[in-house]
Amino acid sequence: MSEVLCNVQGLKKYFPVREGILSRTVAHVHAVDDVTFEIRREETLGLVGESGCGKTTVGKCILRLIPSTAGKIVFEGRNLFELNKQQLQAFRRQTAMIFQDPYSSLNPRMTAGNNIGEPVTIHRVAGGQKKRDIVLELLEKVGLKPQHASRYPHEFSGGQMQRIAIARALALKPNLVVADEPVAALDVSIRAGILNLMKDLQNEIGLSYLFISHDLSVVRYLCDRVIVMYLGKLVEIGDTDKVFYRPLHPYTRALISAVPVPDPTIRREIIILPGKVPTPIDPPPGCRFKSRCPHAQPICSKEEPLLMEISSGHFVACHFALESEV
Ligand SMILES: Nc1ncnc2c1ncn2[C@@H]1O[C@H](COP(=O)(O)OP(=O)(O)OP(=O)(O)O)[C@@H](O)[C@H]1O
Ligand SMILES: [Mg+2]
Repeated sequence: MSEVLCNVQGLKKYFPVREGILSRTVAHVHAVDDVTFEIRREETLGLVGESGCGKTTVGKCILRLIPSTAGKIVFEGRNLFELNKQQLQAFRRQTAMIFQDPYSSLNPRMTAGNNIGEPVTIHRVAGGQKKRDIVLELLEKVGLKPQHASRYPHEFSGGQMQRIAIARALALKPNLVVADEPVAALDVSIRAGILNLMKDLQNEIGLSYLFISHDLSVVRYLCDRVIVMYLGKLVEIGDTDKVFYRPLHPYTRALISAVPVPDPTIRREIIILPGKVPTPIDPPPGCRFKSRCPHAQPICSKEEPLLMEISSGHFVACHFALESEV
């Protein structure tokens, strides 16, 4: 088994819901509720689940972009919540985030070159000609030309802008990058180019990705392992091949059943889940998926299912994971 880069243990993030002129906290959004997993060195770990299940919040907590409510994150052997100022700065150099909308992650008043070089300046890695060389090298790496350095973000297409955002994210050679739906906002025709670029750069630099996506076909193509979340909880985790070949959680099965299969001779029934995702505000006890689950039993309302290892490295949180298989 490859080495662990980042260990997330019992991570929770609750957002307060405030009301009234005194902004009293009346409830909490359980955006991420006791989530445990690891990110291994040089792997691409997919994170999937419906809108609002807590994917972005997990990514932001891991990068310490927002404070966590509880839990522990150990990165390179250090507890992230106990870092001093210097250690936190070093951590920031080793991590980066790529967002869905590249335009919002770039400064529109700065040239592409300055956008890419900004982290190099902030972290005082290099200046002058050395910095310019770093920027030119990064531009080349992401498939752009030296003359692009002096242009402004609005002069680029969406795909080119995402390339600039990737170059900026990789400027300090991080070892963990959280990519939050990096191709969702881009035209379908240019998505593969960006994904292949991300893969090539991973091989070159040796970094790990936490790859957040709605799109399961992309996850299947790109990720070594995959995590499935539902309403702030982790419901399944395993090698991508295993999870796609034999999804164990009824929710994962429904998600996978909706992925188009390229072979027209294969007919697969799409599992349509009844109802909507319930609100994550102060959720009731038991399994969070019970209100939409075709296999729900009384125990599901009482006892929360814990993650169980069904086969090597393949975990599922469902009381009836094996019984409900067809
Ligand atoms: N700053 C915030 N204040 C209050 N609630 C928040 C905040 N950020 C996120 N939430 C809530 O936390 C839950 C998880 O949100 P999150 O953005 O992590 O979901 P997501 O899985 O990334 O969804 P999407 O696929 O739409 O991006 C949602 O119910 C959301 O409304
Ligand atoms: Mg999100």
